[in-house]
Amino acid sequence: MLGNDDWWRDAVVYQVYPRSFADADGDGMGDLEGVRERLGHLADLGVDAVWLSPFYTSPMADGGYDVADYRDVDPIFGTLADFDALVAEAHGKGIRVIVDLVPNHSSDQHPWFQQALRGERRDRYVFRDKPNDWESIFGGPAWTQVADGQWYLHLFAPEQPDLNWENPEVRAEFRDVLRFWLDRGVDGFRIDVAHGMIKADGLPDVGVKEGPQAEMLGDEIVPYFDQDGVHDIYREWRPILDSYPGGRMAVAEAWVSSPERLARYVGPDELHQAFNFEFMMADFHAKSFRTVIEKSLKEAELVGAPTTWVLSNHDKPRHVTRHGGLARARAATLLMLALPGSAYLYNGEELGLPEVLDLPDELRQDPAFKRRGESRDGCRVPIPWTSSGDLGWRDPWLPIPPAWASLSAEAQQDDPDSTLNLYRAALRLRKRHPALGGGTLKWLDSPRDVLMIERDPGLVVVLNTGEEPVSVPGEVLLASGPLAADGAIPPDTAVWVQR
Ligand code: GLC
Repeated sequence: MLGNDDWWRDAVVYQVYPRSFADADGDGMGDLEGVRERLGHLADLGVDAVWLSPFYTSPMADGGYDVADYRDVDPIFGTLADFDALVAEAHGKGIRVIVDLVPNHSSDQHPWFQQALRGERRDRYVFRDKPNDWESIFGGPAWTQVADGQWYLHLFAPEQPDLNWENPEVRAEFRDVLRFWLDRGVDGFRIDVAHGMIKADGLPDVGVKEGPQAEMLGDEIVPYFDQDGVHDIYREWRPILDSYPGGRMAVAEAWVSSPERLARYVGPDELHQAFNFEFMMADFHAKSFRTVIEKSLKEAELVGAPTTWVLSNHDKPRHVTRHGGLARARAATLLMLALPGSAYLYNGEELGLPEVLDLPDELRQDPAFKRRGESRDGCRVPIPWTSSGDLGWRDPWLPIPPAWASLSAEAQQDDPDSTLNLYRAALRLRKRHPALGGGTLKWLDSPRDVLMIERDPGLVVVLNTGEEPVSVPGEVLLASGPLAADGAIPPDTAVWVQR
């Protein structure tokens, strides 16, 4: 498996949110050693790669997306030696490793920003005598004033000052950071806020709009996102990735206004992939999924590379809750895992975990909660490993609902109908039938609330989002839930069928 340069095109990538995956040292926070110890779980699941959300030195103002040292591991998560051991063992199991790169902003504790606060070398950040009208994605103004009266830009929390990418020193630094991790053997990067970095010349006001600016994102191009200049950065990075053997890749987290804009991030001289968030935003309805799938395939055609599929991540409510229950979530997962391209799974989704909706406010840690009243903590609750006692976590950093004992990896391990075993079976079949993640897709005639997609000649995916059962067009290879007594596919169920 390792060694194939195009591995990422149909890869199933598992996102580890390090604070919440597995805790080896018992301090209530997950760590790299915890990930290493649980690689067996990921190998049994059958994923091709793991993507690690940030584990770098960080004061954790935004769960590690505020980096104080891009070349080291935060003591909470371990050491560089732990990282090396994790990479070596993952590779030994045939699992590739993708790390998160956060280039739009650093932590306010980064030595560069500390120096800037002392009034020296402010050219690495965006300091101005007066703020403009830009707003932080987490709510409130995107500018904070320092002691001597100047203001600095932070598109996210004040603890996340935006770097000045017009400064060649910043560019050189990140080229070097890329090499640092490539030299340590990483197989790829997830680029955080890949549509940020370059701001429109002169930092023009957005202009008066109704409601928070964050609500406009996705519909319009704002002067701080998706600027043309950002593509020059990726054109600098691509030759670096290509200069290493084994198919090193990068995937963009870019929230832009259309598939056409997204397509500009991907190609032989820029990044390999971009997250296709439209699929994550689709409703649980055949029509909604079909519209998004068609759009995504168009985008893939534009860039000549297969798209990505995501149902859950660390920023959005888990899809069990979003789609209205476990049955639907399992059905949506079977749909996703039979679409051409690569699929990204999130920390614990293989256990069918729901969003935790009742976290006490005083325990919420997301900086967006204080600024905007919205919190992403509910999808970041540590995942249950054991079905008794502390569920595998001594004093976890967010409380785990006691009811999750029955959702633990241990509880699901030997239950053939468990969500864990559904994911395992799906990934096994996906390996056996490479056409499930690749190849072409043909829409078959179906009732209005039903999707019927032919993948390989003979392999068909059926998703029933309606209220009536539908009959099965062949031999069932895998079903997301129990079939009706007469073998029909009940509502909120998907099946993979061989004809
Ligand atoms: C990305 C991350 C999110 C983080 C933000 C700022 O959107 O996914 O978790 O808060 O960037 O780095």
